[in-house]
Formats: sequence, structure tokens, C-alpha cells
Amino acid sequence: MLKGKKVAVYVTGGIAVYKACDLVRRLIKVGATVRVAMTESATEFVTPLTFQILSKHHVYTDTFDEREGDKVSHIHLADWSDLAVIAPATANTIAKIAYGIGDNFVTTALLATTAPVFIVPAMNEHMLNNAATIRNFQSLENDGHFIMEPDTGFLAEGYEGKGRFPEPEKIVETIQEFLIKKETYLPLKNKKVVITAGGTKERIDPVRYITNDSSGKMGYSLAHAARDLGAEVCLISTSKTLKTPYGVALVSVETAEQMHQAINAEFKEAAIVIMAAAVSDYRPDHVANKKIKKSEQEMTLTLVKNTDILATLGSQKNDQFLIGFAAETHNVEEYAQGKLKKKNADMIVANDVSKPYAGFNKDTNEVTIFMKDEQPIELKVKSKQAIAEEILAVALTKMKK
Ligand SMILES: Cc1cc2nc3c(=O)[nH]c(=O)nc-3n(C[C@H](O)[C@H](O)[C@H](O)COP(=O)(O)O)c2cc1C
Repeated sequence: MLKGKKVAVYVTGGIAVYKACDLVRRLIKVGATVRVAMTESATEFVTPLTFQILSKHHVYTDTFDEREGDKVSHIHLADWSDLAVIAPATANTIAKIAYGIGDNFVTTALLATTAPVFIVPAMNEHMLNNAATIRNFQSLENDGHFIMEPDTGFLAEGYEGKGRFPEPEKIVETIQEFLIKKETYLPLKNKKVVITAGGTKERIDPVRYITNDSSGKMGYSLAHAARDLGAEVCLISTSKTLKTPYGVALVSVETAEQMHQAINAEFKEAAIVIMAAAVSDYRPDHVANKKIKKSEQEMTLTLVKNTDILATLGSQKNDQFLIGFAAETHNVEEYAQGKLKKKNADMIVANDVSKPYAGFNKDTNEVTIFMKDEQPIELKVKSKQAIAEEILAVALTKMKK
């Protein structure tokens, strides 16, 4: 959602300015281009040079420092930005923008911006609860600006209270959510997308299980991409380590059977179902309730077949757009085409997991998309996130409206 976005970060003079450095770094990390403007007070806490190095661009501090001869800098920054973030926002600057005052670079650019304004207040608890500050927050909200709730905790003043600058990671997540609500291209708005991720674990005893190399990364990338298109996303996952994308509902499962039950609960309501998980075909016929002890004998495990979830969903589906994955090491096309027909899927995304840059546990993938009566679509090696976005873009062109 922030990828490719032009973000103007307006830094004002509070003790939390040093945390805004991390915020800038994180915004850049998720793909935003960042320009920074600071008030004179903010420069008392951290020098513009720090933000210049982080954003790789000159930092604006002076309204009358017109170094770009052909542009008026504060108007240029205001027009350039897709989003304005004031972080940290002092009580003073909040009051000024509530009243439309433009007496420094930051407040003047903010007067001129037509971009959505996201405000991260940080101040002493008594300043936060001051009647004037509360009135100013109200005015800014009435003007359509978004104000993020400050955190409660140990304040710089040496006592507990509300007013702390939230963790930069939480700010980035809240910005993403804010942008989703603002965004106009949300083709999956009001639609549910159910995605499975990770390799299932089939217990042998309390400490042993049968599983596979799937990390769940492709499923998580799909959840992220579907969320950015406005979907209500339900992610059914076996992963214990991957971070659930903000705004995505997680259902944690372990076995194929649990995964099947979790999908059944969501299937009816779903517009798209993506089976990105690597589901075990078999499970032990019996799960020992105590650790199996070593003996002198050979040991034989009897495995029974798990339900073929994709095929079952294929036989039950109405308008759901059903996407399956095929992880193969050979004859990829033949298996994928067979799976498409046999399972009544709308799309099979096939990858050759024997390739060093594709499939299980990698951050990149290379896939071919198979659909009934369509030429296969090859997506050459790129990040799993980019592959996820393209899979959904193709699905959107094929789905019934
Ligand atoms: C050490 C110190 C810490 C401060 N921290 C904050 C703060 O966290 N929040 C705030 O609203 N003001 C804080 N102030 C007060 C502002 O710096 C002051 O109101 C200033 O005029 C704000 O200017 P600006 O809004 O143009 O950046 C602090 C001042 C000092 C000296």
C-alpha cells in the first residue's frame, strides 16, 4: 500500500524526534519515497543531516531558502506528496494547523497540501489533555485529518502517562490501514479472500510429526496483496514465525484436517479461495499420546490418506474463484494442467521447486499460471510479494463481477 507512494514527513520539535528517524527508515523499507521537512524546534533535537542521509534528499527547514530556482519549495513538497505524515506532532504545531497558520516551512506546506494528512501526536500527558489541545484535535478531525492515538507508558518526564510516540512499526501499519480506507482502487472491497499458508504437520506422537519444506511465505504475500486490494482476508496458516500482515484475520492450524475445517467455516462467504499451503497427502493412522520409545525392532508407520481439500472445494464451489498451487520438481506443466481439470480449480499456479530461486522457503518465486482454455502465463523470477500481486491481478480479470 505504501509501495511507490511519495510521503512528506513533517517533523516537529518534541523529544520523540529521534524515533522519527526510524519511522523514515521503515517507510523507505516498505517502498515509499520520503522527503522530510523540519521545524526549527525539531532541529534542536536531531540535525537535518540525519534525515537527509536517511531520505537521501535535502531536508526542508526554511520557507525562504529557495534553492530550487524554478520551484517554490513548500508548494512543491505539498504538491509532490501523496501523503503527509506529521511525526512527532507537537501541541504547538497541532494548534497552528488547526487554525490554518503558516509561519514556518512545515505549517506553510501543510496549509498548501491536498494530500491526506496523518498526524502522530507525542507530548506530555497534561499537554495532551489540555482543553485547547482536545479542541484542536476535534477541529483537525472535522477537517478530515487522521490523528493516531498516542501510546501510554513511561514519559520523558519520568512518570507514566499517555502521550508517547507509538513504535514506528505500529505507525507504518496504521498508515497502511489508513491508506486502504482512503484508496479508491479497491476491487476486492467487501469481498472475502481465504488463503491457506504453510506446510501442515501430521503428528506421529507429541514430539514428532510429518511435514514438508513450505514456509508459508507465498501465502502471507498473497494475504498482504489481497488486503491492499481492499479484501477482508482470512489467513489459515501453520506458520508460527511469520508476521501476520496488519488487518488480516489469522486462523492458526497444524494438521490438514484442522485446515480443512477452518476453510469449511469460511468457504461459503468467500469470493476467492487460495490454497497456497502445502497440505500433507497422508497422516499416520494413529497418533500416539505418549512419546514412542526406541526399541530393537524395525518400526512401520501406517499412513492414511488426508482429504484432498482443493478437490473437495472444487466439487462444492458456486461463485468462489478457486486457486490452487502445484509445487513440482518435474513435468510441471503436465501435473498443473491435470490438477486444474481434476480439482475443478479456476487457476493453478505452478512452480518448479527444484529451482534455486523458486518455491519453498525462498523470498523469490517463478511461476506459471494455468487457467482453463487460456494460454499459460509465465511470471519470471521476482519477489513473492510481486508474484502475489500479479496472481491477484490475473484472477481479477477472470472473476465473475
Ligand atoms: C526538551 C523538550 C522536549 C519537548 N518535548 C515536547 C513534546 O514531546 N511534545 C510537544 O508538544 N512539545 C514538546 N516540547 C515543546 C516544543 O518544543 C515547543 O512547544 C516548540 O515551540 C514546538 O515547536 P514546533 O511545533 O514548531 O516544532 C519540548 C520542549 C523541550 C525543551
